[in-house]
Amino acid sequence: MTAYLIKNVSLVGGAPTDLLIRDGVVAETGADLTAPDATVTDGTGLVALPGLVDLHTHLREPGREDAETVESGSRAAALGGYTAVCAMANTSPVADTAGVVEQVWRLGREAGLVDVQPIGAVTVGLAGERLAELGAMADSAARVRIFSDDGHCVADPKLMRRALEYVKAFDGVIAQHAEEPRLTEGAQMHEGEVSTRLGLTGWPAVAEEAIIARDVLLAEHVGSRLHICHVSTAGSVEVLRHAKARGVKVTAEVTPHHLLLTDDRAETYDPVYKVNPPLRTATDVAALRAALAEGVIDIIATDHAPHAVEDKECEWAYARPGMLGLETALSIALDVLGPQWDLIAERMSRAPARIAGLEGHGVGPAPGVPANLTLVDPAARRTIEPAELASRSRNTPYARMTLPGRIVATFLRGEPTVLDGKAVK
Ligand code: DOR
Repeated sequence: MTAYLIKNVSLVGGAPTDLLIRDGVVAETGADLTAPDATVTDGTGLVALPGLVDLHTHLREPGREDAETVESGSRAAALGGYTAVCAMANTSPVADTAGVVEQVWRLGREAGLVDVQPIGAVTVGLAGERLAELGAMADSAARVRIFSDDGHCVADPKLMRRALEYVKAFDGVIAQHAEEPRLTEGAQMHEGEVSTRLGLTGWPAVAEEAIIARDVLLAEHVGSRLHICHVSTAGSVEVLRHAKARGVKVTAEVTPHHLLLTDDRAETYDPVYKVNPPLRTATDVAALRAALAEGVIDIIATDHAPHAVEDKECEWAYARPGMLGLETALSIALDVLGPQWDLIAERMSRAPARIAGLEGHGVGPAPGVPANLTLVDPAARRTIEPAELASRSRNTPYARMTLPGRIVATFLRGEPTVLDGKAVK
C-alpha cells in the first residue's frame, strides 16, 4: 500500500500542517513530517475534510442503468469529495428484500470508489400497503439501518407507526419523504404566486408540513428515530424546531438545490428545474439556510437524482422530477455557507455518518482514524459543463454556472479514488 504525505494542508480550516496516510489510516499529523517511502503532495492552500457522506443518493441500479449505475454514481460521488453514500430504494426491482440490498451493497464493494450503504424500502414495492422485510434487510450482509420509500410518502399513519416501532429493535431509522399525496395530486411546482401566474398545479407547503407534524408526534409516541428527507419550507423548519425542543429523536436534511434555487426558475419551463419537493420561495430558502446554520436542520444531503435524456428533456408536465447533486454539492455548500469548514464537516460528513451509523466515516482527519478524507481547493472556481460530469445523466441545474471550490483528491481507507481532480479508476 502506498503511503501519502501531504505537506502544509489545513485540517478542517486549522493552521497548515503535514498529514501522513499509511496502511489505510491517518498515521501522523504535525509539522515537518518526513516519510522516505511516501508519495509527497503539496497541500498549500488546500483544506482536508473528513470524507463527505451522502444520506440520500439515487444510483438507479438495478433497473435504470442507462441513467446511472452503482459504479458511475460512485465515481461521481468520489469526484464530489464523498467516501460514503446511502443508496435510495426506488430502483427496479425495488430494494425491498435482502436479495436486492445485498446486490447493491456488493456492486458498491466491487466498484470500490465509495462505501455504498443501501437503504431499504419501508413498504413492499413502495406501494404503501404492507411493510417490507425490514428485519431480513437489517440482518443481511448489507446491514441496512435506514429505511425509506423516498419518491413516495409512507402516507398511512398506522403503517408509519408500525415501521417506526419495528426498526427500534436494531436502532434503525425511518427516512420519510414528507408529502401528503391527497394535497399534491397533479402538482407540477410550488403552490404560490408563480404557479398561479403560469397556470401550473401547485404543491402546497402544507402537504410537507402536515406529514412532518404527524410523524414527529408518532416518533415521540413510540420513541423511535425519524429522519425527514429534503426539507423545503419555512413552515417545516418551525415544526422541526418545536419537535427538537420537545426531545423528539428527529433529524432532517436539506438539499443543495433547496438552499440555492427558487420557484421562479419554472418560468423557463426547463424541466431541469422540476424536482420533488419543488423549488420554493426566497423566504423558504432563507429559513432553510438559517436552520442549517442553527442545527434545526442537521445535514446537507444531495438527493442526487439522475434521469435519462428522454425522461428529462421533454415537456415540463411529463418530465421526471430530480436533479444531479453529487459532483456539485460541496461547491454549493461553500457558496451558501462560506468557508465555515467545521460547519461544513459537521453537516456533510460527521452528522450524516452518525445518523447512518457508518463506522470509520465522519471522523478526523486525525491520527489513528481511517483515512477517509477529501482535499478541497477553496480558491479554485470551476464552470460546470454537463458533458464533463462522471454521472451517466446530464440533468444538472448548474450547467455553465461558475462555482467556488474544487475537489483535488479523495481517499477511501488510504487509497486515492481521486487525484489531481480526476478519478483514479
Ligand atoms: O425529485 C425527486 N426525484 N424527488 C424524489 O423524491 C425522488 C427522486 C427520484 O428518484 O428521481
